Amino acid sequence: MVLFGTGRFAAVVRHYLTFHSEYEVVAHTVDRAYMEGGEFEGLPLVPFEIVEEAYPPDRCSMLVVIGYQGVNKLRARKYEQAKKKGYKLMTYIDERSAIAEGVEIGDNCIISANQSIDPFVKIGNDVIIRNGSYIGHHVVIGDHCFIANHVAISGDSTIEPYTFLGINSTIRNGVKIGKGCVIGAGALILRDTGEYEVYRGIEGEFLPRKSSEINI
Ligand SMILES: CC(C)(COP(=O)(O)OP(=O)(O)OC[C@H]1O[C@@H](n2cnc3c(N)ncnc32)[C@H](O)[C@@H]1OP(=O)(O)O)[C@@H](O)C(=O)NCCC(=O)NCCS
Repeated sequence: MVLFGTGRFAAVVRHYLTFHSEYEVVAHTVDRAYMEGGEFEGLPLVPFEIVEEAYPPDRCSMLVVIGYQGVNKLRARKYEQAKKKGYKLMTYIDERSAIAEGVEIGDNCIISANQSIDPFVKIGNDVIIRNGSYIGHHVVIGDHCFIANHVAISGDSTIEPYTFLGINSTIRNGVKIGKGCVIGAGALILRDTGEYEVYRGIEGEFLPRKSSEINI
């Protein structure tokens, strides 16, 4: 498998693939303009423009490992380009997650460790779910979404494509999150949202005293 990406997230995913999957990562690729040298963490780094010359699609698969830049638009673009080159885009599902039988998961997805995913969930293509989230029954997650860690999506909710759900956010059951929204860390969403909206949670309140002064 060739990984698109050389960021910290790509390094993390490669670590998972190495220790918790059957896949062998053989190289990394990024656009030539973003290359610094010819290797990434001990593996060859090749320009995406010519990746198929050394790692042809009939011998290698690919996984596009980019975060949520541009509210997931950048990853979606590279996903489409990799497909056009003829690569099969693989999905990584961490063996330490509890996923109900029959859950549908598309290609180029990264389902990290310690998820709890209920029956009848549908997850589209190019969806990233970081560690430790709960996805309730009959939830539908559209293509190109990024779900950060410890997110709770209650049953019957819909997350439309390109949406970002921040760490520890919570979605009430039956709620629809519109396309391309950014839901901030710790936000609680109780009603349907529009498209491309931004929500934030309630910030912890600063108390003007030292921790040594309180009684815990
Ligand atoms: C909500 C969010 C998208 C806003 O982004 P932003 O507009 O760049 O945020 P800023 O840092 O400029 O903050 C704007 C204001 O909102 C507050 N704020 C930002 N995020 C907040 C949050 N999650 N909860 C409560 N308040 C928040 C800031 O304190 C600031 O308040 P002020 O105007 O009173 O000073 C962002 O803060 C966020 O939560 N991102 C998700 C982080 C995350 O989940 N990371 C995991 C990666 S895997």
